[in-house]
Parts: sequence; C-alpha cells; structure tokens
Amino acid sequence: MKHCRLPTTILAGMASLLGTGAATAAPAPVTLTIHADTPGAVINPAIYGQFAEHLGRLIYEGIWVGEGSAIPNTRGYRNDVVIALKELGVPVLRWPGGCFADEYHWREGVGPRESRPRKVNTNWGGVVEDNSFGTHEFMDFAELIGADAYVNGNVGTGTPQEMADWLEYMTSDTDSTLAQLRRKNGRDKPWKVKYFAVGNETWGCGGNMRPEYYADLYRHYVTFLKTPEGNKPLRIASGSNGSGLQWTEVLMREAAKYMDAISVHYYTLPTGKWDVKGAATNFTEKEWWATINRTLRMSQILIDHSKIMDKYDPEKRVGLYVDEWGTWYDTEPGSNPGFLYQQNTLRDAMVAAVNLNIFHGHADRVRMTNIAQMVNVLQAMILTDKEKMLLTPTYHVFHMYKPFRGATALPVSASANLAEAAEGALLSVSAARGTDGRLHIAVANTDPRETQHVTFKVTGMVPRGFSGQILTATEMDAHNTFARREAVKPAAFNSARVQQGVVQFDVPTKSIIVLSETGK
Ligand code: AHR
Repeated sequence: MKHCRLPTTILAGMASLLGTGAATAAPAPVTLTIHADTPGAVINPAIYGQFAEHLGRLIYEGIWVGEGSAIPNTRGYRNDVVIALKELGVPVLRWPGGCFADEYHWREGVGPRESRPRKVNTNWGGVVEDNSFGTHEFMDFAELIGADAYVNGNVGTGTPQEMADWLEYMTSDTDSTLAQLRRKNGRDKPWKVKYFAVGNETWGCGGNMRPEYYADLYRHYVTFLKTPEGNKPLRIASGSNGSGLQWTEVLMREAAKYMDAISVHYYTLPTGKWDVKGAATNFTEKEWWATINRTLRMSQILIDHSKIMDKYDPEKRVGLYVDEWGTWYDTEPGSNPGFLYQQNTLRDAMVAAVNLNIFHGHADRVRMTNIAQMVNVLQAMILTDKEKMLLTPTYHVFHMYKPFRGATALPVSASANLAEAAEGALLSVSAARGTDGRLHIAVANTDPRETQHVTFKVTGMVPRGFSGQILTATEMDAHNTFARREAVKPAAFNSARVQQGVVQFDVPTKSIIVLSETGK
C-alpha cells in the first residue's frame, strides 16, 4: 500500500473541499498510520493560549466584576469564571489587545481606581473605559488562574520610553522610582512577564504602517526593552494577517535577529466577507462546509509563512505565534455590534479541533496560539449574562485536548485510497505521545451526514487499550444557553477496539473524539 506522509494530518475528500455537501454512498473504512517511530516536535502547551482584550463584556463582567459586586468574586474576579478557567488550565493569556493595545497607556491603569482616567474605547463600541482593570488586575488574574502573562505594548500611540517604563514597572527588583511606584500600588515582588509584543496589527488598526516602516520601528522600540536577567520576555513582532506574506518577508529580512517570535492572525468567516460574515446559529449545511473549508486555510497559511521564516531562520529559533484565531460571525441580534458577542455551537467546536490538529502538525515553528477571545467575545470559551455563566462547545474541545499539551506530535499518514474512501467527508486527525509514553489520538469527523469508520495502524509501538471522550450533537448549530447550559458537553467514549496492534472505531457524524491509551 502506498502511503503519503502529511505534515499536518488533515485528510480531505474533494467534495467537502468544494463545499458540495455529503457523499451519496456510505464511506468505506479509512486506514491511517501513526508513525510513533519518527516523532515530530513537542507540542508547546502555549498552543492552548487565550486572548483577553478590553472589548465588549470580556474584561468587565466576563472576568472583572469588582470587589463590591453581588456576583461571588475573589478580589473582584468572578468565581465561576475563575473556577472554570483553572479547571481548563490556561497556559498563557494575552492582554490588553488587539486594537485596544495601541491606544492603551499603562499609567492610566495603575494607582487608586477612583482616580484613574475615563477614556473612550474608540475601537469597540465607543463605550467609556474606566481603567479599573489595569496592570495589577491583569497580572494578579493571570497568577490566579495560573497563566503566563503575555503583555502587548503600544506602538501606535505610545513611545519607546512609555513601553520601556512599563516593563521596568512590572519587572524591576531595584529601588528605582518605577519599582517603588509598583510597590506603593500594592505589588512588592516583580512580576514575571514571559511574553511581550511590540504593537498589534501595525499594518491596520495599530497604525496602517508599511512593513519596512514597522520593521524599523520594531528595531527601535525593542532596543529599549531592558529587564533584569532571568526575567527577559520573549519579544514578539507584530505580524501579518493570514495572507500578508510580504509582511513576514520584510520583517524576517530586516528584524529577525531582534525578535523571538512573529505573530500571524487569521479569522474564520463563513462567507469570507467582512460586511456579512454569516450567522453563529441557524446556518445551512452549505455554511457549515464553507466554515470548515475556510478554517482549513490555516494550514496553508502556516506552511507559507514558515517557508519564508525557514529562509531567514533555518534553525527555527524564531517562533510563529498565531496570537489571534477563531470564528468571527455577525454579532448576535440585539447586542452592541461593537462588542463582538456571538453564540458558540458544535461548528465552533469543530473549528477548534481542526485548528488544534493543524497547530500540532506545525509544532516545530508554531509555539504559541491565542484563541480570540476568552469570555463573551468572538469564539469564546465562556459566555456570561450578568450572574449567569456557561461553558461553550469550544471550551469542551480545549478541555478534551489537554493530554496533547507538552506531548510529542506524531506524523499520521493515510492510505492512497483515502480520497475515495472519505469522499464527501473530511477527517482531521492528530496523534501524539505523552511524556509518560502514552499515545493520544484526536479525530474530528466534519461530515454532518456520514459516520466514518477509522482504522489506525501504529509503527514503532504496540498500542494498548484506549478510553476518552466524544463531543457531538444532533444539530449542527447545537449550543448551550443559560436555560440549557449542558446541551452540548462531552460524553465518555470507550468503543475503540484494539486487535493485533490495530485501533479501530467509528467516528459519528460531526463529532470530535479524543482518546488516550489506558495501558490495559
Ligand atoms: O479580536 C478582535 C480584533 O481583531 C483585535 O482587536 C484585532 O487585533 C483584530 O483585528
């Protein structure tokens, strides 16, 4: 049998790629091979990172309700959200934006809350930002949920001095005036700032710059980011939107040696159009396929940007961080259009699984990603309505995929008959070996009509029994509401059969299965 080794384990039948819908005949079994004898890169846990911008009801209500709130809270952070995030584990959290970052002046968010200035959030709904959630509140929150801090600096309306001062304020253990001010404001020990970005979308809301201009600005600003030994952030250059290859080319050519990573942003819009993006619920099967096919573009984006990076950085020292990704729909009717609030369905769960599988396949270069965004904005993990809270299908996928964090990605190849076997369907697969030696397998069947019968052969190890979870529902747009908070949630999956080293199971329509070896 002929095998084709796939760098990312996306396996597609032509019909689905063309968005024409379901197959006419029941699909034949799909045979896949997991190459445990040729392991790939370690999947950096930061691939499971999140993003929290001052946008809509994310920070205010979604995370921060203030100490005086009737909503149960710990030092102002709502308890239900904190508990859910701790259970999930958030390896890294990016803040304060997004577009907001390039209008954010950190001094306005420190000191007594009652004297912090009130500003218009010009990017998101024109509402008043009272700065009650600032540096101390963010860093304390990151510590509370156990996330590494990723702080995004202001290039658009800031100065190199302001940026350098912010880092000194956060990280200095001297008795400098800025370190003393931090202590006066309630924090004695310096914080660890693991990641720091110089601007956001500087080609757009961050200043409408040309790459040559930003490359010089990046070199300029980054020169003055000085922190104590042992507390040096990884320095991130503002990268392109998905298709902006020239941006990556210029930045890598002119500034690679001054950066530890460059970012890239890519959002999945069902229609691909910003004026009418498509609805979050009540969509057709055609829109389902359009969404899946658009999200698959992430794979080619990573291939294209990595190729450019390989030219300037063959050792792969510089990371490619997808620090904004996820679905972006028309906002929910009745909500403030500037707040980017959208429902989250089984389709979003599928998008999450497909993207995580793609990221695993690029783990050598992609060492961080941040889904946009954490609560109440775009493809959120959590939705709130005042005192009420629910976990979205996307949250459940991130939770199911936990065994992949820190595991070693394993290549998966498909038999030559796959395209025929899976015609009209699309499977997205990844496999990895945990630090304890156990094999983990994730399979997403994006076909809303046909069950897929999969067989995994494994080279280089003999798999034992498996158990895990499945996430699925009857409707494509199944979602959780405040009245039915658990309409979509994972169930136990123990139907994988292992015989003579071969693992077999059925993957029902529009379902995601994550399995871990039990050793039995
Ligand atoms: O995530 C919402 C916005 O999308 C961010 O503020 C911006 O960086 C991107 O365009």
